[in-house]
Amino acid sequence: MGVLRSLIFLLSFQLLLHVAKGSMVRLNESGYEDLVVAINPMVPEDTNIILNTMTMIKDASKYLFEATKHRFFFKSVKIILPKTWKKNSKYSRLKTESYNKADVIIADPYLKYGDDPYTLQYGGCGMQGRYIHFTTNFLLDSSLLKVYGERGRVFVHEWAHLRWGVFDEYNNNAPFYVSENKMVEPTRCSAGVIGKPVFRNCIGNQCAPRECQYDGQLYEAGCIFVPDVNQNSKTSIMYMQNLPSVVEFCDNSTHNAEAPNMQNKMCNYKSTWEVIMESNDYHNSSVINSLAPPFETTFQLLQTQDRAVSLVLDVSGSMDLNNRITNLRIAADVFLRQIIETGSRVGIVTFESTASVKSPLVQITSDATRQKLAQYLPTTANGGTSICAGIEKGLQIITDAINTTYGSEIVLLTDGEDSTMSTCRERVRESGAIIHTIALGPSAAKELEEFSNITGGLQLYAVDGNVPSKLIEAFSEIKTGSGDISEQSIQLESTDQQVNSSGWINNTVTIDKTVGNDTFFVFSWSIKQPIFFVRDPKGKEYGSSDFTVDSANLRTARLHINGTAEVGDWHYYIQNDNAVAQNISVAVTSRAASSDVPPVILQAYMERANIAPYPVVVYAEVSQNFLPVLGATVVATIETDGAAAVSLPLFDNGAGADMTKNDGIYSRYFALSGGGRYSLKVSARGRDQTIKLGRRQNKALYIPGYIENGKIQMNAPRPELPDEEIQANLGSFSRTSTSSITLVNSGNSNSNSSDFPPCKITDLDAYIENETIVLTWTAPGGDFDIGKANHYIIKSSANLLNLRDDFDNAASVDSLHLIPQEAGSIETLKFKPKNFTIENGTIIYIAIRAVDDKNLISDTSNIAKATWFIPPKASVPSGDDDGVNITVIVAVVAGCVVLVCIIVISTVCILQNQKKRRDPAIRM
Ligand SMILES: *[C@@H]1O[C@H](CO)[C@@H](O)[C@H](O)[C@H]1NC(C)=O
Ligand SMILES: *[C@@H]1O[C@H](CO)[C@@H](O)[C@H](O)[C@H]1NC(C)=O
Ligand SMILES: *[C@@H]1O[C@H](CO)[C@@H](O)[C@H](O)[C@H]1NC(C)=O
Ligand SMILES: *[C@@H]1O[C@H](CO)[C@@H](O)[C@H](O)[C@H]1NC(C)=O
Ligand SMILES: *[C@@H]1O[C@H](CO)[C@@H](O)[C@H](O)[C@H]1NC(C)=O
Ligand SMILES: *[C@@H]1O[C@H](CO)[C@@H](O)[C@H](O)[C@H]1NC(C)=O
Ligand SMILES: *[C@@H]1O[C@H](CO)[C@@H](O)[C@H](O)[C@H]1NC(C)=O
Repeated sequence: MGVLRSLIFLLSFQLLLHVAKGSMVRLNESGYEDLVVAINPMVPEDTNIILNTMTMIKDASKYLFEATKHRFFFKSVKIILPKTWKKNSKYSRLKTESYNKADVIIADPYLKYGDDPYTLQYGGCGMQGRYIHFTTNFLLDSSLLKVYGERGRVFVHEWAHLRWGVFDEYNNNAPFYVSENKMVEPTRCSAGVIGKPVFRNCIGNQCAPRECQYDGQLYEAGCIFVPDVNQNSKTSIMYMQNLPSVVEFCDNSTHNAEAPNMQNKMCNYKSTWEVIMESNDYHNSSVINSLAPPFETTFQLLQTQDRAVSLVLDVSGSMDLNNRITNLRIAADVFLRQIIETGSRVGIVTFESTASVKSPLVQITSDATRQKLAQYLPTTANGGTSICAGIEKGLQIITDAINTTYGSEIVLLTDGEDSTMSTCRERVRESGAIIHTIALGPSAAKELEEFSNITGGLQLYAVDGNVPSKLIEAFSEIKTGSGDISEQSIQLESTDQQVNSSGWINNTVTIDKTVGNDTFFVFSWSIKQPIFFVRDPKGKEYGSSDFTVDSANLRTARLHINGTAEVGDWHYYIQNDNAVAQNISVAVTSRAASSDVPPVILQAYMERANIAPYPVVVYAEVSQNFLPVLGATVVATIETDGAAAVSLPLFDNGAGADMTKNDGIYSRYFALSGGGRYSLKVSARGRDQTIKLGRRQNKALYIPGYIENGKIQMNAPRPELPDEEIQANLGSFSRTSTSSITLVNSGNSNSNSSDFPPCKITDLDAYIENETIVLTWTAPGGDFDIGKANHYIIKSSANLLNLRDDFDNAASVDSLHLIPQEAGSIETLKFKPKNFTIENGTIIYIAIRAVDDKNLISDTSNIAKATWFIPPKASVPSGDDDGVNITVIVAVVAGCVVLVCIIVISTVCILQNQKKRRDPAIRM
C-alpha cells in the first residue's frame, strides 16, 4: 500500500476516535446545540458581558455559515453565570452543565498579560481542544475590535481550534521565511494576502513605521508584516480573520504548505479546510440550501447554585473482600471532612439488593456537621447489588431537600455487577443530575461509565488495596465544578508503600504560598498503628497525640493544621513497628490560602491518540490561573487490577507525545494493551528556581496595523509583560491528581506491548554549515517514546510535498552508521549531499522515520528545511505601489554561511534573538 493510501486509511480511522472532553455540544444536522459559555466566579457582575457574548455568537453563527459553505451554524447556547451574581427569575438552575466542562470560559487572568483570546489545545491535528478563553476586556473594550477584528470572526477562529483541531497559520516567532522559489515571504495563508514588511520605529512613545532593514543575515528583529486592509484574498480565517475580505478557510487550492506555522507542522502540511472535511462533524452534516443560517442563535441563562450531593455506596457482600468496606469508609470520611466545600448539602445512601437512607441531605456548616455525617458511613457489607435502587434513593433524598434533582450530584460507588442497570438509564437522563462513578476493584459493572458519560460526571476507578489511598485519590477529585478554585480542596500528596518491620517512610511535602488553609495529613495502615510524627518548616513537631485516631478502629490517623499552614517543606516520618511488613499510605490535602491569589493546580487526563496504533496519551496540565507552569517534575503512574503499576516521567519538551514545548502541558505515550479500566495518578513537584509561568499558544492574531490607501496605520503595540514579571518564580510546590480511562479491546491482537512502532519525530531541524547539512532531533523510542529505535530512514528532496507524499522514492541520506540513542536524547547527523552540490539558493527538505527491531516504522516526521544563503532578489508582494515603497534588500555577508531554516523575528524575543535562532522549539 502506497504511503498516500495508507495515510488516507489512517485518516479515515481517526474519525472514529474523537473523544469529547467534557463538552456536551451536539451537532444536530447543521446546528450546534447546547454550546456552554461560563463566566468565572471572580468576574464582577456586568450585564454587558452577557449582551456582548450573545452578539458575538450570533455574528459568529452567520460568519461560520458562510465560512463553511453553508454547512454549520450555532443553534443554541447556554450561558452559566456565577453564584455571586444577583439572583434573577429569568435565570434557570443548571442541570448537568458546569463551569468545568464549559466550551468557552470568560475570566480575567491574575497576571494581566493582554487580552489575546486563545484555545487550550494539546492533542494532535483533528483532536478537540478543551476550552476557549476570553477576557472580560476582550468582550467589553471596543478599542480591541481594531486589533482582533469583529468578535464574531474571532469566535469562529477559536471555534475551529476547539472543535476541529486545526492550528494557527501565522507564526509570531517566524514571521518570514524563504520560499521554494527563493523569495522572502511573510508566514501566511493564503500566499495571496498582500501587505508590507514594516518596522515599528519608536523613540519613547513616538512611533513612526519605516522600512525593514536587512541585518546581514535576516530582517532586523521586530520586522512585522502589515496587511493591506483592502484586498481580494478570501483566505484565511486561521491567519487573519479580521481582514474584511477574509471569509474562508484555506483549502487545498489556496493553502500555503511552505509557511512555517503550526497548522503545517501539526497537520502534515494540509490545509485547514481539508482537516475540517475529515471531521465527524463534516460527515454528519450536509449543506443547507439557504443564504443565511435557518435559525437565529437562541440563548438560555443559567446560574450556578450550591452543591447538593448524594453518596450512593455499595454495601453488597463482595464489599467485604479485600478491605473494601474499610477503605470505602476511610475514603468517604476524607471526602466529608476534607473535600466537600462548606455550604454544600450532602446525604448518604447505601444499597445492596435494596437501598436505605443513612442520612438525608445535611448542609455543611462546620466541622461538627462534617463529623456527624461521617458517623453514618457504612461499616458492614452483605447482600446483592441493585444499582438502580441506590440511584433512586439518592435522587429521592435530593428532591426531599431541594425540591429538584437538576444540577445535583450523585457519587455512585460499586464493586459489583448488576444486570438490571439499564432499567434506570432513562430515569438518570431525565433527572438532570450529574453522576460521578467510582468503579472499585476488577469486577465493577461494565456499564457503570455509561451513567457518568450521559450525565457529564467524572469516571473514576480505584484498584483494590490493603490501604485506602487509591479510593482517597478518587474521592478527592470530586470537587466543585463551579470554577471557584479558592473553595476547592487541593491534593498535595498521595502515596502508599509496603514498609518492612522497623522500616521508615521519611518524606517531604511542600506547602507553597498559594495553599495552606484546611491542611490535613492522613496516615493509614493495614495492620498495626505505626510510630509517626510531622515536622513543619520551622521545626515544630506534631506527634501522635496531635493526631485524631478514630475510635471505630479505622486504621487511620488525621492531623489538622490550625489556621494557614507554614509555607515550606513539611517532613513526615513513619516507622512500622509491627513485627511483619505492612502497607502504609499518606494523603495530604489543603485549600487556597487567599481568595485573591489563585493556587497552582494540576489536572491529569488520558485519551487515545488519533493515529494508529492508537496509543494512550497521558496529559498533565500544571497552571496557575490560566498561565502555564514550566519546569515542574511530573510523573504519571498507571494501574489496573492484577498487573504491576507502570510509572513514567512526563515531559513538556515538544517531542514525542508532547505537542508544544513550554506550554505547561506535560505529556507521554503509554503502550497499554488489552481492554479494561486503567487508573492514572500524576504527581507534580516544583523546586525553587526552575518554576516559571509561561504564555499560552493558539491565540487569535494581534494585528500590528493595516495599510489603507498606501498609508501605514499601526495599532498600539501588543502589551507585553517583561519576561521577569510573567516568569515569576513560584517557589516549590507539590500536587497530585487522578483520572481513569476504560479501553475497549480493539480486537487488533496487539497484546504484546513490544509490538508498537516508534513515535513520530516532531522536532526535526536542519541547517547548512560548511557545505554540510546538520540535522538534529529528539530520539523516539522502540515503542513510541520508550526504549530505543533500531535505525533511521532519512530522505531528502527539493520539493516539500513530494517528500510528504512519496517518502519512499525520495533520495536517501546515508544514516546506517548512526545508532539510535535512548528515547528523549538529542540526535545529530551531519552529511554532505552526494547527488548535488550546495550552492547559492539551495533549498533542501529532509524528513525522517524511525524503525524498531520488529521492523515497525514510525510515521514520517515533520519536514525540516535547510537553506543555503539567499540571493538578493527577494521581495514581498504588495498592492499598488504608489504609497510607501519598501524594497527588501538582502545583503551578502562574507563568511556568513548559515541561514537557519526559519528566520526568527519576534518582538518578544528581541533580546534573546541570537539564542532563539538556535532553538528548534520555535522553528518548525
Ligand atoms: C481539492 O479538493 C477538492 C474537493 O475535495 C477536490 O475535488 C480536488 O480534486 C482537490 N484538488 C487537489 C489539487 O487536490
Ligand atoms: C416544590 O415544587 C412544587 C411543585 O413543583 C412547588 O409547588 C413548591 O412550591 C416547591 N417548594 C419549594 C420549597 O420550592
Ligand atoms: C460516551 O458516549 C458517547 C456517545 O454516546 C460514546 O461515543 C462514547 O464511546 C462513550 N464513552 C464512554 C467512555 O463510554
Ligand atoms: C527516618 O527518620 C528517622 C528520624 O529522624 C531516622 O531515625 C531514620 O533513620 C530515618 N530513616 C531513613 C530510612 O532515612
Ligand atoms: C489548634 O488550636 C486549638 C485551639 O486554638 C488548640 O487547642 C490545638 O491544640 C491546636 N492544634 C494543633 C495541632 O496545634
Ligand atoms: C485562610 O485562612 C486565613 C486565616 O488563617 C483566612 O484569613 C483566609 O481568609 C483563609 N482563606 C480562604 C481562601 O478562605
Ligand atoms: C568549517 O570548516 C573549517 C575548516 O574545515 C573549520 O575550521 C571551521 O571550524 C568549520 N566551521 C564550523 C562552524 O564548523
